[in-house]
Amino acid sequence: MIICLLCLIFEIIDASLKQSYSFYVGFDGTTGLQASGAYIFRPSGTYPIGSQKQVGPIPIGDGVGKEIATKISTTIKSNETFYTDSNGRDFIERIQDYRADWDREVNQPIAGNYYLLSVLVDRSVGGSSIVDGELELMLHRRLLYDDGKGVTKAINETAYVGNDCRGLAVSISFYY
Ligand SMILES: *[C@@H]1O[C@H](CO)[C@@H](O)[C@H](O)[C@H]1NC(C)=O
Ligand SMILES: *[C@@H]1O[C@H](CO)[C@@H](O)[C@H](O)[C@H]1NC(C)=O
Repeated sequence: MIICLLCLIFEIIDASLKQSYSFYVGFDGTTGLQASGAYIFRPSGTYPIGSQKQVGPIPIGDGVGKEIATKISTTIKSNETFYTDSNGRDFIERIQDYRADWDREVNQPIAGNYYLLSVLVDRSVGGSSIVDGELELMLHRRLLYDDGKGVTKAINETAYVGNDCRGLAVSISFYY
């Protein structure tokens, strides 16, 4: 799925553009509720972090799984609306907290507005437009609980660097 930002991109030529980073706390599934995991994005809280050259290893020493996202913010008034596109076959209008086919009860204001999309990226990433004029992309995830949807383990991938086993890191470059 490709996010359609053509309308935004043409306007961006004149709009100021700011990029920032933050992480979501992955919900831990306490009280028997659904945990954030491989298939389930269920954030509980978000915190800004500084500019990143490489994402990861994601620290988990505090016992908290994290999902790192970047936001590209503009002053464009997008009226809570953006468009995704299934490989050029179908534009779908996305209106924040709204579904055309049923009355949506908003329990997850972030995850409920997230879609799988590609923005000329070198891998698929999750993303959305939660705030008007803003494009948000998920960059990396490291979670400590299984979401119970089939993988049967936490998304806690590691690699050896020398003798040190650490969380995977993602190198990132943005061109716009
Ligand atoms: C903003 O979005 C709402 C809901 O989709 C729509 O009814 C309204 O016409 C839009 N306003 C503008 C200025 O496009
Ligand atoms: C996550 O990976 C680290 C490093 O391999 C390991 O020490 C830790 O026990 C793992 N935690 C979970 C919940 O998988």
